[in-house]
Amino acid sequence: MGESITVTDNRTGASTEIPIEFGGVSAAEFSKLLPGVWFYDPGFTTTAACESAITFVDGDEGILRYRGYPIEQLAEKSTYLEVAYLLLYGELPTTDQFDVWQRDITYHTFIHENVRKRFLEGFHYDAHPMGMLVSAVAALSTFYADAKEIDNPVVLDRQIVRLIAKMPTLAAAAHRFSVGMPFVYPDNELSYTENFLSMMWKVAEPHYEADPALSRALEVLFILHADHEQNCGTTAMRVAASAHADPYSATAAAAAALYGPRHGGANEAAIKMLTEIGSIEAVPAFVEQVKQGHGRLQGFGHRVYKSYDPRATIVKRAAYDVFEVTGKNPLIDIALKLEETALSDPYFIDRKLYPNIDFYTGLIYQAMGFPMEMFTVLFAIPRTVGWLAHFKELLDQDLKIARPRQLYIGADTRDYVAMPQR
Ligand code: CMC
Repeated sequence: MGESITVTDNRTGASTEIPIEFGGVSAAEFSKLLPGVWFYDPGFTTTAACESAITFVDGDEGILRYRGYPIEQLAEKSTYLEVAYLLLYGELPTTDQFDVWQRDITYHTFIHENVRKRFLEGFHYDAHPMGMLVSAVAALSTFYADAKEIDNPVVLDRQIVRLIAKMPTLAAAAHRFSVGMPFVYPDNELSYTENFLSMMWKVAEPHYEADPALSRALEVLFILHADHEQNCGTTAMRVAASAHADPYSATAAAAAALYGPRHGGANEAAIKMLTEIGSIEAVPAFVEQVKQGHGRLQGFGHRVYKSYDPRATIVKRAAYDVFEVTGKNPLIDIALKLEETALSDPYFIDRKLYPNIDFYTGLIYQAMGFPMEMFTVLFAIPRTVGWLAHFKELLDQDLKIARPRQLYIGADTRDYVAMPQR
């Protein structure tokens, strides 16, 4: 046996040797010696809930790979739809496979008119687009009667195509509604990101043409956001999927988790923070406040990355490509100063807190004209493919339903007291 640990049950003297594999030990092996004994691990900080062959993250070394391919190579050379295929099916597509895939996605971009008219236009005028997106994705399950047929791979793949294709349409529709602009139908002549930009920004021109630098920057951001193994949203997806919820409902569960400011909401929070700081001179005082326990640096820190998030490095570079077209977002100077100040401060060094992907993405989105409320939506669109890759993988693995234990800390048994006697 290679590396292992020995566990002894002091109640019985029995012991067992458990191998350490890929840095972890199997709870099933523990359970053989200790039946009925469970592990208390809030936030799952030391629990692996599944095996996965989709995404590899080495948080100490700052490494991220999709299906073995380094994120840097994919961001430089690939497209979002090619990466989507890779994540879902495990291999880069051949030319023929990609043609079929791209055509399938392109021809499923339209949404049922009732999704727009009855659902999206039924929201209050100031509804947050992320709330609209979560609800609209869940509502899609009611439009596709075959959504529940998750055991049929052909039918499941159809739902996957629909979800990837329709997310940008729903997202843009949510935005157009919130600003009182008419809905723009998908343009099947355009690429995935160009079409999204067209649905967002088209006004009266017959054919919207996005600046190639901006659509490429969005493509890169979509690639970077496509998957990130067992983060909060993906875990929510896997938990819902383990109950065999349909892919639309499970995607809505994942998107709801992503909405939180500790997760995908951090890009919006980061811009609010930089705006509040307001000037380079105000950075040191702000950092001091954070160190005193008043709030957190938004876009900083990560459960897994204990070094620079490799996605943040790529986003930081991409920001300058975008600024070439849009002009510089003045908040970048505050962000750079904040990063420099934090990375030279023992509070952040000791806790291994580095900028994560959300620190710089908001600066790009803002420069491209996206309102802040759309930032998390811009995360949800590409992450949909990651969620669905996990959905497929979980079904292939035929995993048990997710059902953790709890440590009960409530009242002991007591008798009911009638209301007048309380
Ligand atoms: N600013 C200041 N201090 C921080 C920060 C931060 N951003 N993040 C963690 N810390 C401190 C925290 O106070 C704690 O200090 P102490 O040990 O003295 O109590 C220590 O670092 C460890 O923090 P933690 O909360 O135990 O770490 P976690 O792994 O549970 O949380 C996190 C990870 C991402 C939720 C957290 O770092 C955070 O809240 N960051 C800000 C929000 C953010 O940027 N989220 C985006 C994450 S990346 C994209 C995504 O997954 O959506």
